[in-house]
Amino acid sequence: MSYFILNDGKQLPDIGLGTVHIQGATGLESILTALDAGYRLIDTSTNYHNEGMVGAAIRRTPISRHEILVTSKLPGLAHQYDMAIKLIQESLYRTGLDYFDIYLIHWPLPKRDLYVEAWQALIDAQKFGLIRSIGVSNFTREHLNRIIAETGVTPAINQIERHPYFNNLETVRANNELGILTQAWSPFGRDKLNVLEDPVIKELALKYDKEPSQIVIRWNLQQNVQPIVKAASAKHQLANLDVLDFELQVADIEKINALDRGEAGRIAGQDPDEYEEFE
Ligand SMILES: NC(=O)c1ccc[n+]([C@@H]2O[C@H](COP(=O)([O-])OP(=O)(O)OC[C@H]3O[C@@H](n4cnc5c(N)ncnc54)[C@H](OP(=O)(O)O)[C@@H]3O)[C@@H](O)[C@H]2O)c1
Repeated sequence: MSYFILNDGKQLPDIGLGTVHIQGATGLESILTALDAGYRLIDTSTNYHNEGMVGAAIRRTPISRHEILVTSKLPGLAHQYDMAIKLIQESLYRTGLDYFDIYLIHWPLPKRDLYVEAWQALIDAQKFGLIRSIGVSNFTREHLNRIIAETGVTPAINQIERHPYFNNLETVRANNELGILTQAWSPFGRDKLNVLEDPVIKELALKYDKEPSQIVIRWNLQQNVQPIVKAASAKHQLANLDVLDFELQVADIEKINALDRGEAGRIAGQDPDEYEEFE
């Protein structure tokens, strides 16, 4: 595997494993096969209702805890400072871990307007030793500028929606300018957008003799973006790691960039300025 280096000096593997809808005993088996296949970054959240399962998999695998990175995320109900600190502690009890490697504010919820307070809680939770690297998710340039201006602390990561139909290049640029690593969520458009069936992606898969999924992963890696890919099946997990033996030509990256549909390309209901979740 190759690595990304965060602005706090920490090192991340090139691909993270998403865990939406991976739960319970079958979920645990999925995480174990992923760890066995070589994944070292597991992306969970209080809102995914699977932090306990992720913690159980980490206790069960023979791989050392120190070789595995776990991300979790602060839900909307806990943006208020004291609630955020307690929720992070509760999430740690639930996982059975002593610390999170990465912890993100899940959504900015600008209508609620508590994200600066939530960010201060993450800054302090890092000082208390509960978290190694702190970041945000679904933050626009405006949200990023505000938390940096009001706290003086720049996030290490901004995890955002990004796939060929919504490449989110404006936020990727903002992240790059601020020295923040972009993580791409729903890199395949989940099971909603049929990104992997797109004729351009399929044509490139034929050209490079790879799978459509591998083309989309390379498109991210070659633009300095870390894809967080959900794959429950062992077959998909292995395929998504097999991406280091080829490079997309610049013209082909541009071809994929040209698939962008702007705001219309987003997964429905995921605009960070509008999105609300208070549970
Ligand atoms: N921060 C946020 O607000 C936010 C929002 C959404 C998601 N996320 C994170 O990002 C992760 C990924 O996003 P996502 O779960 O929405 O969707 P995704 O990764 O875009 O797509 C997952 C789907 O792709 C399939 N797949 C995986 N590898 C494949 C391959 N090689 N060939 C064909 N199909 C393949 C999976 O099938 P199988 O599972 O059957 O293998 C699953 O149906 C999430 O799990 C979560 O951790 C974060």
